[in-house]
Order: sequence, then structure tokens, then C-alpha cells
Amino acid sequence: MTEEQAKAKIEELSNLLNQYNYEYHVLDKPSVPDVEYDQKLHELIKLEQEFPQFRTEHSPTQRVGGEPLDAFKKVEHRSPMLSLGNAFNDQDLRDFDRRVRDGVGGKVQYVCELKIDGLAVSLLYENGRFVRGATRGDGTIGEDITNNLKTIRSIPLRLKEDATLEVRGEAFMPKASFMKLNEAREKEGVEVFANPRNAAAGSLRQLDPKIASRRNLDIFVYGAAAVEGRNVASHSESLHYLDELGFKTNPEWKRCETIEEVIEYVNGWVERRPDLNYEIDGIVVKVDSLDQQDELGTTVKSPRWAVAYKFPAEEVVTRLEDIELTVGRTGVVTPTALLEPVQVARTTVKRASLHNEDLIREKDIKIGDYVIVKKAGDIIPEVVNVIQEKRTGEEKNFHMPTHCPECESELVRIEDEVALRCINPKCPAQIREGLIHFVSRNAMNIDGLGEKVITQLFNENLIQDVADLYELKREELLKLERMGEKSVDNLLKAIEASKDNSLEKLLFGLGIRNVGAKAARTLAEHFETMENLQKARREDITSIHEFGDIMADSVVVYFEKPEVEQLLEHLRKVGVNMEYKGLKRSETENIDSPFSGKTIVLTGKLLQLSRNEAKAEIEKLGGKVAGSVSKNTDLVIAGEDAGSKLTKAEKLGVEVWNEDTFIGQLND
Ligand code: IVH
Repeated sequence: MTEEQAKAKIEELSNLLNQYNYEYHVLDKPSVPDVEYDQKLHELIKLEQEFPQFRTEHSPTQRVGGEPLDAFKKVEHRSPMLSLGNAFNDQDLRDFDRRVRDGVGGKVQYVCELKIDGLAVSLLYENGRFVRGATRGDGTIGEDITNNLKTIRSIPLRLKEDATLEVRGEAFMPKASFMKLNEAREKEGVEVFANPRNAAAGSLRQLDPKIASRRNLDIFVYGAAAVEGRNVASHSESLHYLDELGFKTNPEWKRCETIEEVIEYVNGWVERRPDLNYEIDGIVVKVDSLDQQDELGTTVKSPRWAVAYKFPAEEVVTRLEDIELTVGRTGVVTPTALLEPVQVARTTVKRASLHNEDLIREKDIKIGDYVIVKKAGDIIPEVVNVIQEKRTGEEKNFHMPTHCPECESELVRIEDEVALRCINPKCPAQIREGLIHFVSRNAMNIDGLGEKVITQLFNENLIQDVADLYELKREELLKLERMGEKSVDNLLKAIEASKDNSLEKLLFGLGIRNVGAKAARTLAEHFETMENLQKARREDITSIHEFGDIMADSVVVYFEKPEVEQLLEHLRKVGVNMEYKGLKRSETENIDSPFSGKTIVLTGKLLQLSRNEAKAEIEKLGGKVAGSVSKNTDLVIAGEDAGSKLTKAEKLGVEVWNEDTFIGQLND
């Protein structure tokens, strides 16, 4: 074969295979049997080996070509990848419609689409060739996952026209593939994925494209950005154009003339959602006319011309098999429902807190009952109520014990509190929970010391109080289960590093009743050293603006205890820092920054710095960081995958910044 002939043959085979691929994966209408495809593919592979000079990036042989990477490159999107405002009911949709019509002052048509529950990706084509694919990232900068995306057969490597454009879509894992994958993982003994979205995201974030190629991922493309050349006047036209170019779009979209028609479409899908072989978490409603879209414009975060309707929280029925009691750090005994494992909002739920006995009475919960379970805010499992009709008479009443399930001392109900408490300071459960609290993120933040390791150390009698952590020996740790040399060294390093923490971390870690992370910080700022605080009188503490009698009492009572004095002595001896290292109150109050005096909430994943770093920066610049969004919040900084806090901020009209804006302001 001459070079010329080879070149022509390679091109012919490439085109043919791309066409077969398109028919199979995009149109779902294969025109040739699989063996024929395989045979042609082999022919092409052989020719390309013989004539590598004619192999192109877009050859069908290059779908799993790439070598494993060390890290993903960061790439900037040609136009930002925005997210969407939410609607939770018909009224929210009507309000959206009103805002839209007020904004354009004319007739509006909508396009409704399924909101695919996967991972947003951006695909860049130059002259009809797929040149780069990226994750959403923070909306402006994403990660280059081109090699992983190439493994998705429904992503065309060559378009049917030599167009230059950036398209957006949702990569996902079909339900059936997800089930198969998890079955296999379970057999292998590796952790299963909680839901198809996590499985898809996990697969596309692998540095080795071979993994993604085995995961059977798919894509629906739902929009074009930065199109060069072709003029389209509406979103529905651009969907047709995307089809023509060879992309896979979702066929269920519908153009609606009125918002009532939209509502009908939405409600139809609430019913039909389980029939789909991929997961959706809502419906996206978009203004069809591109002129009207332009007229409406976007906010920093999301377009005013589109909204995402989110399906209501899923409720499922399961059996409450037993009620377990747990003793917390402060001695509160909490009943927890042990449930027959069930899938709710895409994770398996086995336990749900029942909070206290009053609540159990109120909901009339008995052991053996069938109960309705949902996830509050789609996160925390909750027993909604009991299905009385399913009772057989075999169900058993539950009573709170009179004695601590761990140490058997008598439980007390403190005035005004619904909770029962174990007040034995030597109760092993409380000590263990106190240790877990001490090492946690907002306290001493010791990496590698989770609940499991602490429990082991405690059960092996290696630690009785928090100071003992600083006396741990390498040899002792090496004897523990699942602790290799490397993890022991890392752990010792982390313990050592925690000695340098500023005073507020230690104060919070000690677990003084009524002293949360914020109060600990205020105390540290005010008193500056542990010694000063140990000497402080009630009046000294109540003189601080935020401190009332109850908190002051808790602090004074705590430091009066002889065992606390001993503990602090021990901590000093092993070299734990007892001084405040942050800025003085007077210094932070006078700072002129966009953060000073503001209450700020961080949510979602930040890519360029950790939560704690962000918090420290804000505080340095005079801002306060709060944990939840309320009407007192001045600003929300939303990272990737921000959830309910962001939704709430939008509802309350609180200002929202993305990570880039935040970093920009920090740098200024
Ligand atoms: S349109 C500016 N359409 O939902 C408009 N998004 O917050 C941007 N999604 O993660 C999105 N299916 O990836 C649109 N048919 C669809 C969608 C869809 C799923 C995802 C999107 C993003 C989130 C929107």
C-alpha cells in the first residue's frame, strides 16, 4: 500500500467508524452489527500502527489514548458557566414567569428540559474538532478533563460541520450502569458510590482515562455558548442545531406557550421520573427567544431567563427495627432509630436521630413500626411519621432508661431541658466523645485522628484525657490495627503541629459547656492567655458584650475545677500553646476592608484555599464568619456545589460572591 492509499483508507475508515459510533451512541440506532464495527476498528488500528503519521487526535482509535496525568490543568471557560436559581413549587414558577414578563414586556415562550443529575461539562470545538473538555469548576475556571471525556462515545470527536463553538452539557452515568458498577465494587470489597452522580463525577476526576473508559458514561448536551458563524434566534433552534452537528441532546424537551403549560410539564415528570433510565433532579425552564434572554441578562451567578424547578424531597417507607442510645460529649443521651436500610435521596439511610423522648411520644413512634423517612434539606435523615395502618400489635413501646447506657449512673433531666443527661464526669462515653471533639476540625484540627482511631486509643487505655494525646509514643501507635509506619509518622506530625494552635482552638476543644467556637474566639481575643482566663471573675467575663450570666458561669465553674487545673498544667508541660495568636480586637475593628463588620457565610467547596484559610483571611480583615444563613447575613461566598445555604441566601436576597470574586477582593 502506498502512503497515499493508506492516508485515504485511514480517512475513509475514520469517517465510517465515526458514523457507526454516532448511530449507536447518539441516535441509539445501530446500522451495522457490532462485529463489523470491531473488524473495521481493527483494520484502522493496524493501518495507524503502520502509518502513524496519518493518525489524528480525532481518530476513533483515540478515545482511550491518553496516558495517566499527574494533575488536571486548570482552564478558563470562554464564557462563564453559570448556575441556576431554584423554584420549589408552582408559585415559584409563576413568580419567575412574572419577573420574566415584567422584564421583557411582551409574550414569552419557554423551553422545558429535564435537569439531568450528573456533572456539568464544557466541550470546546475548533473547526469541527473536539479540542478540549472541562469541568465547571468555579464557573470561570474548570479542570481540563479532555482525555476522560473522549472516552464518552456520545461525545463527537468530529462534528458534521467545521463549526467553532463551546457547548455545555451534563455527563452522567445511566442507572443500570451505576447498579452494575456498585455490584462489582461490592464484590471486590471497595467502597460503593452513593449515587450515579457521584459515580460519574468520581470517574471523570480520575487521572487515568482507562478508568473512565470502563465506566459507561453518557452525556446530554443542553446548550451552546460562544458559537461562531451560525445565527440562531432561539434556544429551541440551537437544540436543533446541536442535533445537526452530531451531539446527543435530550429528546424530552418541550416548548411551552404559557407558564401553566410549564407547570403541567413539570408535574407530569414528578410522576414519570422513575421510568427514566438516568436520574434527573428537576426541570430547567428557559426563555426561548435569545433576544429576550439578552434583554433579561444575568446576575453574577445565574441567568434571569432560566430557573431550575427542584423535585420535592423524596419520602420513603421503611421499618424502624430498634432504638439505640448514644451518650454525647455533654452527657446528653440521644435515642437514634435503627432503620432497615433504605435508599433516600440517593444514599442509603440506616439511622436517624429521634432527638429525645418527647419527640418519640409526640410522633407516637414504637419499635417495629413502619415509618416514613426523608432527608431534611436533602441531607439529614429524619423520621417524618408512623404509618399507623401498618401496625400489627407486635410493636413495642420505647422508654428512655433511668441509667446511663455506658456507665450506669443515674440520668437526670435538667430543668427546662427535654434532654436526659448522664452527669458522671468519668463516664467513658463522654470522655471518648470529648476526645473526638478535641481533635475535630474547628478545635485542634488533628488530621488522621478520627472517631475510629480515638476509640481504639481510648479502648486500649492509651489516652484518658486530651493531654495524653501529646504523650503518645511511636511504638504504641504502631501496635494499633491498620496503622502503618507512614500513617503513624503523619499522625505524630499532626499532633505536634497542633501544639502551635492559637488559644481559641484549644479553648473550643476543651468543650466548656456553652462555649462554642465563636465564644472561644471572643474569650481568647479578650483575655489573650489561658492564665488570664483562669483568673477571670464573673464580672470580667460579663463585661464582654456578647457574654451573659449563663456563659460566664459556665466558664468560671469550669476553671474552678481542680481536675481542669491539673489538665491545663499537663498541657502546658507537653508544650501546647496557651496564647492568642490572632489580631487584637481593637486591630480588627478599625480595618477598612470589604469584610469589616460583615457577617459572612462560606458554603460549597472552595478550590483555591481551604475553608479554614478563608475564614482566617476574613477574620483578619475584620469580618465575622457564621455557620448558617439568616437575615443577619451580609454576604455569602459560594464555592463549587453550594447547596441549601446558597438557596436560602438567594431567597433572602443576600449578596452572593463566587470564589473568584472573593479571591479578587482578598488580593485587593
Ligand atoms: S442550563 C445558564 N439545562 O444543572 C444555564 N442545566 O445550575 C445553565 N443541568 O450544574 C444551565 N440539566 O449542569 C441546564 N437541561 C439542563 C440541565 C442543566 C442539568 C445542570 C447544570 C448545572 C445545573 C444548573
